[in-house]
Amino acid sequence: MEKEMIIVLDFGGQYNQLIARRVRECNVYCEVHSYNMPLEQIKEMNPKGIIFTGGPNSVYGEDSASCPKEIFELGIPILGICYGAQLTAHLLGGKVATAPVSEYGKTEVEVDTDSKLFEGVSPKTICWMSHTDYIEKAPEGFKITGTTPVCPVAAMECEENNWYAVQFHPEVMHTQEGTKMLSNFVYNVCKCLGEWKMDAFVERTIGEIREKVGSGRALCALSGGVDSSVAAVMMAKAIGKQLTCVFVDHGLLRKNEGDEVEAIFGPEGQYDLNFVRVNAQERFYEKLAGVSDTEQKRKIIGEEFIRVFEEEAKKIGKVDFLVQGTIYPDVIESGLGKSAVIKSHHNVGGLPEHVDFKEIIEPLRMLFKDEVRKAGLELGIPERLVFRQPFPGPGLGVRIIGDVTPEKVRIVQDADAIYREEIDKAGIAGDLGQYFAALTNMRSVGCMGDERTYDYAIALRAVLTSDFMTAESAELPWEVLGKATSRIVNEVKGVNRVLYDCTGKPPATIEFE
Ligand code: XMP
Repeated sequence: MEKEMIIVLDFGGQYNQLIARRVRECNVYCEVHSYNMPLEQIKEMNPKGIIFTGGPNSVYGEDSASCPKEIFELGIPILGICYGAQLTAHLLGGKVATAPVSEYGKTEVEVDTDSKLFEGVSPKTICWMSHTDYIEKAPEGFKITGTTPVCPVAAMECEENNWYAVQFHPEVMHTQEGTKMLSNFVYNVCKCLGEWKMDAFVERTIGEIREKVGSGRALCALSGGVDSSVAAVMMAKAIGKQLTCVFVDHGLLRKNEGDEVEAIFGPEGQYDLNFVRVNAQERFYEKLAGVSDTEQKRKIIGEEFIRVFEEEAKKIGKVDFLVQGTIYPDVIESGLGKSAVIKSHHNVGGLPEHVDFKEIIEPLRMLFKDEVRKAGLELGIPERLVFRQPFPGPGLGVRIIGDVTPEKVRIVQDADAIYREEIDKAGIAGDLGQYFAALTNMRSVGCMGDERTYDYAIALRAVLTSDFMTAESAELPWEVLGKATSRIVNEVKGVNRVLYDCTGKPPATIEFE
């Protein structure tokens, strides 16, 4: 598909996606594949370079991830990172051993700036190390281009064959000049041109969709989240009225969100598509009445969503294509075998069983989240939608502890809207990974004027996170918390107390359910 591509071969390292993202940030298209991808297939893809990731194994382990030595004979530049560097040394006749002391964390590495890999990098540069084995002796023909007091071979290369290896992780941000090194690899060594740009991608994908769909019809479940919105707009630009978007309002959206989605995608909006809004609030509230178990709530919401969507789809009749907002991390996570991290939760939606369609279209399948956002901007989608924070498929259903009632939804919607407004006003939204209000199931005594109250406590949460797998509670300025608190207790009926969640993930989760 792409003329110019770098392949990341994944040996089970936790940073496989990060390497690909960094390479793409250098405007070079990059895909992640399993370490056991057959050489024939690699050849067919004709990559400009290959990067071996780190991994949890030792090269001497019995079932350690490895690849055929012949990969070095393909004439394609190779960069080995951490385990990938050790594997390079091992396969080419060097020596890997257990290091006398493990190196972990930020480490100063002395590098040879005459190397193509370290061009423009400081001679002493801070890099992120995380290893117990190390390369004790470089293979013959290799030059040592980096050392630390512990590592005799922190970097090595065989320039003639375009083989490079680094013990540290250039892809993580703690390696201060890591992006420069990766950029040097793709430009100086692999001679890439840097053709991966979002505008070109968007234009080409629109053309491909048009060709694929022909005169057929497509159906898209629109949630108002970033992925489904960008997918829908891309489809709409390609096939206009041949697309129908179904937006199910389950009554668990943030305040005014349903109307906002309708304003953008509905008949008054800027796109030429068929938009169906289903106001299914009552149905969801009925199904959820009296249910307080979280997993059961999630299940009910997910299933009901599919039922509503199917009913709408039936009204539309047979469609040729079902559009899904799948993005590249989902593809990597579900398809790479050894290192696969299977997602523990699913979006509301899933795949409906009773919708009559021929094929699935996933226009964002090859994009990382930040690229989806860039594509969204290219497509002219409003910034407030493109930079929307993640919102769980089951919506406020998982931000209300205990059973869900319309009254509780109203309380959490109002409190959340105030909290978000105050964070926006303080100008700190961009620093936070995710922030929201949740409704605890706790009621307690308070006093309002001369009256005794017995009302709910709202919990405010704000976290810093880069991957949503771990997070720390954000130290919000007291002023912001104070302002939000006083507005919530004054403006939201039914609340007399506001708490701030100081817990990280782990041990808590980001959501408050
Ligand atoms: P937790 O609460 O598991 O959340 O720490 C991690 C991230 O995932 C989001 N989340 C979901 N997203 N469907 C989604 O699409 C879900 O069911 C769901 N549950 C949690 C959560 O908002 C956070 O960003």
